Amino acid sequence: ETGASVTAMILVAAGSGSRLAAGVPKALVEVGGRSLLQHCLDTASTVERITQIVVVVPAAHLREVSAALAGQAVDVAAGGDTRDDSVRAGFALITGAEQILVHDAARPFVPAEVFERVIDALTDSEAVIPAVPVVDTIKRVRDGVVIDTPVRDELVAVQTPQGFRAATLRAAHDGHDPQVTDDAMRVERAGIAVRVVAGSPQGFKITTPFDLAVAGAMLEER
Ligand code: C5P
Repeated sequence: ETGASVTAMILVAAGSGSRLAAGVPKALVEVGGRSLLQHCLDTASTVERITQIVVVVPAAHLREVSAALAGQAVDVAAGGDTRDDSVRAGFALITGAEQILVHDAARPFVPAEVFERVIDALTDSEAVIPAVPVVDTIKRVRDGVVIDTPVRDELVAVQTPQGFRAATLRAAHDGHDPQVTDDAMRVERAGIAVRVVAGSPQGFKITTPFDLAVAGAMLEER
């Protein structure tokens, strides 16, 4: 049972949310009377094996968010230009964790059971990601022309939290790379097997005003 009780979480919330056009950073946008960030913290606080949470927020909002989160057991760091940079900013505040989860604040409704599933799978894997099957056919397109259609059975849409042995994630996060869109991508490039577990339809990422409307409707149904 090495490290099963020492799992930290980096909650990346430093995106601008320009596609949401809400006028405030996306993680601070409210749905159902709570910010996306707070919804994430509400769920994560029910996951007992998460022993430290580092929230990474836009530098310009560091004081405001720190004040808003006062009284909750979280550390707050200033984010960077890309998600990848923000994850590294979160590392700096993690103390002694043997496992690290990286979670998008833009996915406020990931159920606790997905967090549990990822942590469980870390017992015998170095890297774990939650994913759901894709329903659309996905094509690779260049200059407006299809160049390839991957077999759909082999495709999944990847969510967060993504889980890693701390040493594996730290070693993989080496230098700035503008192409990196998730943490598993770095670990894959290092030749390490990334295990896939079931995500959840509720793990969808809020990106556009449409997604926010869906989130509001979902909460009203509860
Ligand atoms: O931009 P995207 O939707 O991929 O962002 C995913 C997550 O990464 C969001 O929770 C966002 O706040 C975070 N992010 C960040 N720092 C950035 C860009 C995105 O923490 N510079």
